[in-house]
Parts: sequence; structure tokens; C-alpha cells
Amino acid sequence: MLMFGVIVASSGLLLMIERGILAEVKTPPPRGDVAWRTHSREPEEQQTLREIRNRTLRRACGQQDVARSVWALPPGPRRTLLRHIIVNDKYKLLYCYVPKVACSNWKRVLKVLDGRLDSVDARLKMDHRSDLVFLADLSAEQIRHRLQHYYKVLFVREPLERLLSAYRNKFGEIKEYQQRYGLEIVRRYRQQPPAAASKGDDVTFSEFLRYLLDEDEEKMNEHWMPIYQLCQPCAVPYDFIGTYERLREDANRVLDAIGAPAYIQFPERQAWYKPVSRETLQYYLCNTPQGLVRELLPKYIMDYSLFAYTLPNITSEYCRQ
Ligand SMILES: *[C@@H]1O[C@H](CO)[C@@H](O)[C@H](O)[C@H]1NC(C)=O
Ligand SMILES: *[C@@H]1O[C@H](CO)[C@@H](O)[C@H](O)[C@H]1NC(C)=O
Repeated sequence: MLMFGVIVASSGLLLMIERGILAEVKTPPPRGDVAWRTHSREPEEQQTLREIRNRTLRRACGQQDVARSVWALPPGPRRTLLRHIIVNDKYKLLYCYVPKVACSNWKRVLKVLDGRLDSVDARLKMDHRSDLVFLADLSAEQIRHRLQHYYKVLFVREPLERLLSAYRNKFGEIKEYQQRYGLEIVRRYRQQPPAAASKGDDVTFSEFLRYLLDEDEEKMNEHWMPIYQLCQPCAVPYDFIGTYERLREDANRVLDAIGAPAYIQFPERQAWYKPVSRETLQYYLCNTPQGLVRELLPKYIMDYSLFAYTLPNITSEYCRQ
């Protein structure tokens, strides 16, 4: 009886070791197929793009006067950066969130990884701040350690597509933005009909772009601040840069790399969700004064070049088609 107890106890201990302590040991990225998370080989074209992005980044960041560490950044941009990097200690992951690049779904996944949420599909109103740890919450020493040892990830999106998505969401749906930004934009840039008649909910895309032109990119609202400015890819040597265009595949790649349990998958896009597409963007751009787009592009040119996006074609010839 005693013997039996010992055996049960020790096998229990073994189980605990297996489940608990061993789980703490960092597992190497799984190779080959894993049952739950779907795996597809990355198309060659994607690998090429990734390599181009990687080299462009290294080149651009190799230039003089570029801050190559978090501590070399001026205080303002550093604060912005540290407030945008979410920490997951369990899987040693740092994720720089960019609004309008699936960041709500990423936050969900991070909460599941942390055990604070049961499922990535849980239907809940996302509280964007609670239950998440940001680098800004930690001491300089803790930040240093994590930047050095954790897997650092950033997701990017076509810059103007991201702006259009922010525009449609914020001015189309969110009262707070209509009042805080919409009214101001109309007051500044609308000539006809009189701005006084507006509730800030009828900002046109052109008015929005006109507004961005006058904004300081270091102080902009995070929804339209350039990705470069938010996540500082020269100051933080990201291990992986995923794209919105290949969101699920890239996200699952990250989950592999950090050794996340295979049952945790990046959420599927909701059936009702209609993201802004290239075609929609093209439609908007063709209905925007060409000069305005041309003037605005330099403000987002770092995002275009570092992340290897081609500039939109806004020639009248192309728009006539
Ligand atoms: C760039 O390439 C290097 C060397 O292959 C790799 O270690 C690094 O993770 C890559 N970075 C990104 C963002 O893909
Ligand atoms: C833009 O579209 C026009 C018409 O299709 C084409 O002739 C032109 O080469 C394109 N420009 C660029 C930069 O892609």
C-alpha cells in the first residue's frame, strides 16, 4: 500500500515535471507538420519579398544618424515605441502593435497565450489596455533583457490602405473620433458647405489626407502614425516582420517560432468583416486630387520602402480605366 502510494506520488511528480517544469523549458520551433495549426510552405515569392524587406531594412538602418537602439531614440519617440510593444514573458515574445493591422486579434492571441483568455474566438469586447503588459511598464533593466532575448515581431500593411481603414472606421463609426478629430478637420479644411453645419461625421477622405499633411508624424494619433514611427524597426531588430496580406500564415509562423501550443491559432477573419482592399483604395485614390496624394506620400515613404510596398498608381491614365 505504501509502495503503491509512493509510485502514484512519484508518477504524479513525473507528470507535474512533464507538464509544468518541462513546459517552462523553451521548446525549439517545431519542425514539419503540427496537427492543429495549419502549415503551408511559404511561396517563393513571399520568401523573396521577405528577404528584400530584410535587406532594405538593414541598409536603411545602417545609415548615419539612425537610432539603432531604443536608448538612442529621443524621449518622445521612445515613449511611443515602448507603449506599443506588448510583452509576453511565458513565450518570450515582444509584439509591436500597429492599429489597423489586426492588432485586436493579436491582443486576443496574446491573452490566450498568457492564460487570461480561454479562446481566441471568445466573443468579448476587447479592452485594448487591460491584462496586457507593455515594455513601457517595465524598468530599463527589464526592457534591456527582453529586447535582447525575446522574439520580436511586427506586422505591417500597405500604408495608404491602413490610412483608409482608419478613416472609414474612425470617422464612419466612432463618435469620439468624429468629435475629437472630425470637427477640427472640417473646421480647418472645409470651405463649402460651411463647417458649422458638420457634426464631424462627414469628413471626406481628401480632407483627412489634407489634415495628415499638416500633422507632425511624431505626435500623430497612433491610428495614422507611420508604422516606422510606432515600431522603430531600426532601434528594435525585429526577428520577424509579417504582413496583413498574409496575416494568418505569418501569424501562425510566429506562433510556431515561439513554441506556442499547436491548438492556439490566429483567429479566422469574421465572415462579416470586409477589410479595405486594394481595389477600394484605388477607387478612393482616384477620387482624391492627385497632387494631394503626391504631397502626402513622402510622409509615409519609409513605410513603403522599408516594408517593400509599391507606390499606388495615381496617374489619370490608370484612374480612367
Ligand atoms: C533578417 O535576416 C536575418 C539573417 O538571416 C535574420 O536573423 C532576421 O531574423 C531577419 N529579420 C527579419 C525581420 O526578417
Ligand atoms: C500606371 O498605370 C498606367 C496605365 O495603366 C501605366 O501606363 C503606368 O506605367 C503605370 N505606372 C506605374 C508607375 O505603374
